[in-house]
Amino acid sequence: METIGVVGLGTMGLGIAQVYASAGFVVIATDAHVPARETARTRMAEALDARVSAGKLTKEARDATLANLQIVESVQGFAPCTLVIEAIVERLDAKQSLFAALEAVLAPTAILATNTSSIPVAQIAAPASHPDRILALHFFNPPTAMKLVELAPHAGTSATTITRARALTEAAGKTVIQCPDRPGFIVNRCARPFYGEALALLQEGHSATEIDAAMLARGYRLGPFALIDLIGADINLAATEGLSVAMQNHPRYHVFPALKAQVASGKLGRKSAEGFIFPAKVTPAPNPAIAQRIEATLINEAAWLLHEGGTDAQGIDTAMKLGLNFPLGPFEILTHYGKPAVRATLQALAAKAPDALRPRYAPAPYLTE
Ligand SMILES: NC(=O)c1ccc[n+]([C@@H]2O[C@H](COP(=O)([O-])OP(=O)(O)OC[C@H]3O[C@@H](n4cnc5c(N)ncnc54)[C@H](O)[C@@H]3O)[C@@H](O)[C@H]2O)c1
Repeated sequence: METIGVVGLGTMGLGIAQVYASAGFVVIATDAHVPARETARTRMAEALDARVSAGKLTKEARDATLANLQIVESVQGFAPCTLVIEAIVERLDAKQSLFAALEAVLAPTAILATNTSSIPVAQIAAPASHPDRILALHFFNPPTAMKLVELAPHAGTSATTITRARALTEAAGKTVIQCPDRPGFIVNRCARPFYGEALALLQEGHSATEIDAAMLARGYRLGPFALIDLIGADINLAATEGLSVAMQNHPRYHVFPALKAQVASGKLGRKSAEGFIFPAKVTPAPNPAIAQRIEATLINEAAWLLHEGGTDAQGIDTAMKLGLNFPLGPFEILTHYGKPAVRATLQALAAKAPDALRPRYAPAPYLTE
């Protein structure tokens, strides 16, 4: 068994450490913050105890997982690791200096993975001595429950690094989907129209409950507004704005004023006890035209990502189903509608869109082939 390193023992890092430790890997972990190191074992024990109480884990498996965890004071103790995953603060300079410190300690063949959500992997790797062994392994929250890991190499990542990082993470029970080093990877990017087109409809006068009802009728577990209420409108706005900037403010990532107004009103969703629809239940009769419009833009975004390369339709479908609990992936939905119908929907949207938003509906080349 190889030894896995984890740096950062917050929300993501502790869960990532548990994922590999549960699979039988020795995990060496650290955090710059002393209390995070001191409480890590107890926090993991509590998470495992909850599973034992629920009858989902044996006491032996719990003990074995905890026995695999070694908390050390600094990355000086990481020499035996062949794969190190960082889940520290989302800052380029912090991630670059951490990787420099790790390069001084690790064997030259050891893999360095970042769990970044928004920093280009190429930028993190740029100052490294061996950038070929750097890539992103992007876990979802909570890492213990979410099956999906997006693997994003940068242009200089070696094939061996990709193969080994995939094998180790699959051995820890995850479904690994490769994607390009592009903003939002697959899920955080291809999810944007689910919210964005719903917000466009809201601004045009449809109600949030009507929009959600349309998506529930298509098999989605939550409608766009119920999902925003669950995540928090502020978190959703930050993700939307971040992606918009990273994509040069292209209208496909337009930040709709309705979302900004919602955040300004303080009705952030469950956490503030009131949101777009929370705590109401969705009751209106579903309008299939609403679902068709939102799904056309979901398909188009996925088709643009496909056009950019570095992933495939099946990978995007799997990532969207595992990362967002969608009933079907965008290319599976495309099979249902057919390219001509999706093109017609996009064309009709473009025809009535204000000038600034018209490029939002330009069809990706895949839809016109
Ligand atoms: N929270 C999410 O839903 C989520 C999902 C996917 C990816 N991510 C990414 O994962 C990373 C971590 O996010 P999080 O939500 O776990 O953050 P967090 O704030 O919960 O935890 C970060 C931990 O890293 C420690 N830390 C900060 N700088 C450090 C350094 N230089 N060396 C060692 N330890 C350091 C902090 O003390 C803290 O315990 C970020 O890059 C984030 O973008 C987060």
